[in-house]
Amino acid sequence: MSIPKFQSRRRFLKQSGIGFLTLASIPSWLSAAEGMHGMPVLPARKATANFKPDVELELFCQNTEVPVLVGQKTRVQQYSAKLLQGPEQTLAEIPGSFLGPVIRLQKGQKVRIHLHNQLSEDTITHWHGLHVPAEVDGHPVYAISPGQQFVYEFEIVNRASMVIYHPHPHEATAKQVYHGLAGAIIVNDEEEAALGLPSGEFEIPIVIQDRLFDGQNQLIYSPGMHGNMFGFYGNRILVNGHPELQLDVASRAYRLRFLNGSTARIYKLAWDDGTPITVLGVDGGLLEQPENKPYVMLAPGERLDVWADFSNRNVGSQLVMRSLAFSGVVPAMGMGMMSSQAYGLPVGSDYPIFTARISKKVTDSPKLPSTLSKISRYNIGDTHNPNKPVPITISEGHMQMLLNGRPYAYNDIQDRERIPLNTIQLMEISHEHGGGHGMGMGGMGRMGMGHGMGGMGMGRGGMGMNGGMGMMGMMAMAHPIHLHGQSFQIISRSIDSANERDYATVNQGFINSGLKDTVLVMPGETVRIIKPFQDYKGLFMFHCHNLEHEDMGMMREFLVE
Ligand code: C2O
Ligand code: CU
Ligand code: CU
Repeated sequence: MSIPKFQSRRRFLKQSGIGFLTLASIPSWLSAAEGMHGMPVLPARKATANFKPDVELELFCQNTEVPVLVGQKTRVQQYSAKLLQGPEQTLAEIPGSFLGPVIRLQKGQKVRIHLHNQLSEDTITHWHGLHVPAEVDGHPVYAISPGQQFVYEFEIVNRASMVIYHPHPHEATAKQVYHGLAGAIIVNDEEEAALGLPSGEFEIPIVIQDRLFDGQNQLIYSPGMHGNMFGFYGNRILVNGHPELQLDVASRAYRLRFLNGSTARIYKLAWDDGTPITVLGVDGGLLEQPENKPYVMLAPGERLDVWADFSNRNVGSQLVMRSLAFSGVVPAMGMGMMSSQAYGLPVGSDYPIFTARISKKVTDSPKLPSTLSKISRYNIGDTHNPNKPVPITISEGHMQMLLNGRPYAYNDIQDRERIPLNTIQLMEISHEHGGGHGMGMGGMGRMGMGHGMGGMGMGRGGMGMNGGMGMMGMMAMAHPIHLHGQSFQIISRSIDSANERDYATVNQGFINSGLKDTVLVMPGETVRIIKPFQDYKGLFMFHCHNLEHEDMGMMREFLVE
């Protein structure tokens, strides 16, 4: 695959009034910023004659209106789909929802999708979690204009898992997802089918999102400065597009497929009566064995596969899934800014997500399998770089959230972002200013919350481009870091002592045994992962899945070559 070069470098330099500088004299971060304007325009991909699809569908992005709240309909952007070829059960609408249909695919299927942009703005769709070639991964460089079509062709090589389809246009991902463009793909395979897990009406997607509505039931999306820094939060929780969802269930086991489709909100999911959450799987599919958790953290972009057994419950009884209280993911200063009435549901407060009501007695229910799958794992010794992890660094500054020290720029590849094809990489995600054991300004944010006593010393991030130490630590927040391409293993997590107290409110909710594509990195936390980069060359993004952060430029790409 050839990587197109910037075309508008000269135009940017003129517009910005620095055209008199030679390129060589421009600081690297500035030439990176230039790339924000330097996305080339590529012809939209077309169907190829030698690709013989097993499944072929049309996927439309459109403006429409749906009932969400009582009264007036809500204007949304929505995916809808039409099956051209393939098994009838490939598409399943979620009744009355603005979410796109659930697309059910089998491992090994060849899939062709014709994306139609019927919006009045550019868009492109990404298959979050699927391992596909770079040119059909929904990179923003492939965004198409209104009226255009883009044809995806790929084979499903993933194991059974739930993946997400959502838009990925440059600087507009959050806004389009917020307005409704998102859906789930459920991949099935033979290993999973042999388990006989609850299926059909007993397998239920649970897509959790928060939204803010005006008095006319219309969505408000106005992140502004604070919303960009901390994420934009709604005050209504929607599940599958419905507020206050109540699920009527039979007294038997169900399989609940959770997906956090919020732009920024992080949930700490738990059953209200203290029943542990029985986890079957995460982003990249089934665990080896089910795991019981007192609660599970679910950050934007993450998925969770849950065994919910209602078989010993009485008809008429209810079980509520809540998000429990926790701290540390948003700094005190950000929490303060969110307490205006528009943000009436603070992150980390305790509130209900949905209610399961046992409405029917049945006598038989499937049994929870004791083993679920076999995960082929890598050891550090299998990696290309056992002693030198590829660093992914988070830096938080005033008005800037960065990865690897730079804002996103198309095809602006630093050495650490070059990955040789068909290697397995050890990677380390950490905070640029972190590790100071309370020495950084992170201490200030915590002082604001009335606990922790970090000093005012300088972290090792220095006074670099982030524009002053002052804001860095105060901005310290949790970031769900997502890597495109193949799933990864989490091999270690460590927290600095200054953040231990907040960490204790979330750390039993991480599931580190499964395959992941998104990992929530808490303030002061360092996470090591092992990730394969096999099969496909090209540009693969990695970014914060706080979508406001992503659109602010908290995104980079690996060039696999
Ligand atoms: Cu869910 Cu790059 O995206
Ligand atoms: Cu993705
Ligand atoms: Cu972030």
